[in-house]
Amino acid sequence: MGYQASFRVWRGDSEDGELRDYTVEVNEGEVVLDILHRLQATQTSDLAVRWNCKAGKCGSCSAEINGRPRLLCMTRMSTFTEDEVITVTPMRTFPVIRDLVCDVSFNYTKAREIPSFTPPEGLKPGEYRMQQVDVERSQEFRKCIECFLCQDTCHVIRDHEENKESFAGPRYLMRIAELEMHPLDVADRREEAQEEHGLGYCNITKCCSEVCPEGIHITDNALIPMKERVADQKYDPIVWLGNKLFRR
Ligand code: SF4
Ligand code: F3S
Ligand code: FES
Repeated sequence: MGYQASFRVWRGDSEDGELRDYTVEVNEGEVVLDILHRLQATQTSDLAVRWNCKAGKCGSCSAEINGRPRLLCMTRMSTFTEDEVITVTPMRTFPVIRDLVCDVSFNYTKAREIPSFTPPEGLKPGEYRMQQVDVERSQEFRKCIECFLCQDTCHVIRDHEENKESFAGPRYLMRIAELEMHPLDVADRREEAQEEHGLGYCNITKCCSEVCPEGIHITDNALIPMKERVADQKYDPIVWLGNKLFRR
């Protein structure tokens, strides 16, 4: 049975905006994105919302529903009561372009700052061999759909514009960890992770892992192991002695 739901949607641009109230029909089996599409079709044809696959795989429809970072296409209306007011706002960590659409170029900038996969010199295509256990470790990280919900939720940059320059965010610290753990990657990424990409800012609150729609254990499987590697480098007596001897 259908019903009329109360929606509160943020409307505006980079200069100014406000929450506007709408009453809109909801039918069985629908998700929040369906309701926004119905709003576009019946009341607000100029509502800007980004989406692509409607299957939780393209990472385009990220927004905040009742203040929580979520994919619009994967949030079922049945998770709310019929009399609940559902508030939809753009991701808070990134600048708004219009309505629910943000400029997420911060993430592309951070992606470009990470040195790419560095195989041993002279290794030819076809000679890349690694154990299944190593393949599986990085496969978890490769499930990322680049929705940037983890970036949006991390308190280090949410409401802290000043930290953006020196913090890559969980998605890209995870990328560094993936490369660092890759058995064929010869680059040592520990110091750079700490000094240039802000690994030290992360105080393992795990909020990033909680919002990840792919269920990637960002904190437990990428960030904490990366922190351990950095600590090993700092406190390993052999590394310490090596630094003493060779940096003189
Ligand atoms: Fe989205 Fe998860 Fe990838 Fe972060 S790690 S961008 S939350 S899929
Ligand atoms: Fe931020 Fe995730 Fe660390 S939310 S503080 S990157 S555990
Ligand atoms: Fe592709 Fe939601 S529309 S993830």
